[in-house]
Amino acid sequence: MKDLNKPFHFWMMMLAGLLFVACDASNGTADSAKAAKEVTPEVTSEAAKSGAEIVMYKSPTCGCCGSWAEHLRDAGFTVKEIKREDMDTIKAQYGVPDKLASCHTALIDGYIIEGHVPAADVKRLLKERPNIAGLTAPGMPMKSPGMQDKGQKPEGYDVLSFDKNGKAAVFSHY
Ligand code: CU
Ligand code: CU
Repeated sequence: MKDLNKPFHFWMMMLAGLLFVACDASNGTADSAKAAKEVTPEVTSEAAKSGAEIVMYKSPTCGCCGSWAEHLRDAGFTVKEIKREDMDTIKAQYGVPDKLASCHTALIDGYIIEGHVPAADVKRLLKERPNIAGLTAPGMPMKSPGMQDKGQKPEGYDVLSFDKNGKAAVFSHY
């Protein structure tokens, strides 16, 4: 992360290419008008209850996204997966800053969950309900749920909160 002149997505794609070919956050060529129309977060206040539904946008070829969804299901969430080629459009639409971006973008109860955020943090978020836009685990932390083997503890990265202006703060440390 030393060379900040390169767009974050460049590094993300490099990393994705090297480590997770299946998790390519590719730029789609989908019609953006159609895209905008389809982006309707199906989240309600019911989401704070057990069995809460998370709507997850992911690239059709992303393998680690599916593993993260499984991690959340194991923790009691319902995850609705929506496959999109144009993940950049989704991230722009929900205001995920480039430097805080990861593979998938998920929505729950008015909050954005970007990337490999552990289920425990999502639960804490819904309990504490801080005045933030959402949580993110920028990039692809190797020892995060969905990236590592099932049952392993998250390790070696921070989960960040971010607000509507893109201002980030550490939410939890692993
Ligand atoms: Cu991923
Ligand atoms: Cu993902």
